[in-house]
Amino acid sequence: MPPKKKKMSLKIKIYPDPVLKQKAEKVEKIDQEVLDLIKNMKETMTEEKEGKVKGVGLAGNQVGVLKRIIIVSTKDGPKGFINPQVLRLGKKKEIGKEGCLSVPGLWLEIKRPAWVEVKAINEESREVEFKAEGFLARVLQHEIDHLNGVLFFERLGLFERLRVKRKLNKLIQGLKSNNFQ
Ligand code: NI
Repeated sequence: MPPKKKKMSLKIKIYPDPVLKQKAEKVEKIDQEVLDLIKNMKETMTEEKEGKVKGVGLAGNQVGVLKRIIIVSTKDGPKGFINPQVLRLGKKKEIGKEGCLSVPGLWLEIKRPAWVEVKAINEESREVEFKAEGFLARVLQHEIDHLNGVLFFERLGLFERLRVKRKLNKLIQGLKSNNFQ
């Protein structure tokens, strides 16, 4: 009998790790390595911390892998998507609270399009196209942003950014110094 595979928890890259500012590359072939990565990313994202699931989304960059792969939490559990692409964004915008596993301790109200139409390859290697709204639309946009090296606080409008600047800087400075200790 093959030995039972151990759970693989990946290390999450914390801002300002440069990998978070890089653009992830398209996955050309869905092989075992990609499938294993998806599995490990799911396990990393759904790990419990203080009785709560760690995150609702995770992108390749965040575990130091520059591949266009994201995990998002859905009503059917965490799902992996390969090469996700935004096809259309709703005109109407909504404000919602966001955090990020790579920027611990920072929660911001971010305005984003209320719905998104996405094309991707699912874990069964099938091409899928779907429209998401509400929370899922937000998570998808946040994760696809990661693949393009964009962090959620960069989505703040100019005025909001100025308003939360001090708080933002303090937090980021804190993260930076913790990171290099
Ligand atoms: Ni994030």
